[in-house]
Amino acid sequence: MGADIIDEFEAETPYGKPSSKVQIIEVNGRKASFIRRHGPEHTIPPHMINHRANIYALHSLGVKNLISIGSVGSLKEGIKPPAIVIPEDYISPFRVDTFFDDKVEHITPEMDDALRNDLRESALSLGIEVHFGGVYLQTLGPRLETKAEIRMYSRFADIVGMTVGSEATLSQEIGMRFAAICSVDNYAHGIGGEVPEFREILERSKINQERTKAIVLNFIEKY
Ligand code: HPA
Repeated sequence: MGADIIDEFEAETPYGKPSSKVQIIEVNGRKASFIRRHGPEHTIPPHMINHRANIYALHSLGVKNLISIGSVGSLKEGIKPPAIVIPEDYISPFRVDTFFDDKVEHITPEMDDALRNDLRESALSLGIEVHFGGVYLQTLGPRLETKAEIRMYSRFADIVGMTVGSEATLSQEIGMRFAAICSVDNYAHGIGGEVPEFREILERSKINQERTKAIVLNFIEKY
């Protein structure tokens, strides 16, 4: 199962440029659009990501389902890295992005259960085990968390990362279905005695890369 890149171009939006060129990929005749939120060379730190430009660009291309793929830390000993989580909800107290600066509109944030289910089916049909459910907590970054912060977060959430809440909110505001595939690459600070290091997280994220890619390509092809 492979994807062909059939087009690649710079996009411009009312919110500025997306983090990377948009790639249009094709899997067995089905097309999808792809943006790298940290930039082509992974140089944009999480707190500097222009989520509005990224989400707007995808929406303006006609994207209906947004699948966010990213690295997270585990807040629970039972979610042992390397694992894959399809969370059911999120908490994002530190950063709330919006498209609604000029009108009074309030969404009620939710992830899309139908899309989440399709992703689970896609994984199961490939024999890939996923944790289905759980809460994602978004921190602002770029630093990792203190042990005290993680003790607090672990009471309310299952995984911690720096992007999904922003992307989920904006997707819903603009009318795209949203779900996330989270690659659990480390235990968060203090969980099971772990002291996570960024370079190590980056290195370990390669372990899940093929599996998350397979889930998404299979989804594009079949769902
Ligand atoms: N904390 C925040 N974001 C992350 C982590 C973490 O431990 N691992 C991967 N992304």
